[in-house]
Amino acid sequence: MPLDQVRIITLPKISDPRGNLTFVEENRHVPFEIKRVYYLYDVPGGEVRGGHAHHELEQLIIAASGSFDIILDDGYVRHRFHLNRSYFGLYVPRMIWREMDNFSSASVCLVLASNYFDEADYIRDYAEFVKMVRNG
Ligand code: TYD
Repeated sequence: MPLDQVRIITLPKISDPRGNLTFVEENRHVPFEIKRVYYLYDVPGGEVRGGHAHHELEQLIIAASGSFDIILDDGYVRHRFHLNRSYFGLYVPRMIWREMDNFSSASVCLVLASNYFDEADYIRDYAEFVKMVRNG
């Protein structure tokens, strides 16, 4: 089941009194080549993002600043994760429905993605997603 492949990846953290540093290398810390980076910021309190799955896209989602929750759902099981450390990444494989909420003020959601933006890769209807999962 795809939700079994979801995992928190602990990224390298170079602790320094001048400020900490974390880095991510493709195929080492994430199990894919990084083709795109995007980030969500200035999210107003109470807002919900996501609400879709991807046919092929894999992602690593990082709370680069602040915190938020990610609800992941593989069509059978739903689990809520709380991200609140800059050195944790949540690996999200293909065919996982995701919703994000509970954004703290000034939070930044950094996403490393395995492919370029492609609207055709999105599944934006939950019922359609569940049907696709259950029909294999
Ligand atoms: P979407 O992925 O639906 O946002 P979220 O899941 O974070 O709530 O994207 C919102 C809009 O931004 C949508 O119109 C597509 C566009 N977009 C791009 O043009 N390029 C990108 O890399 C991403 C992630 C989104």
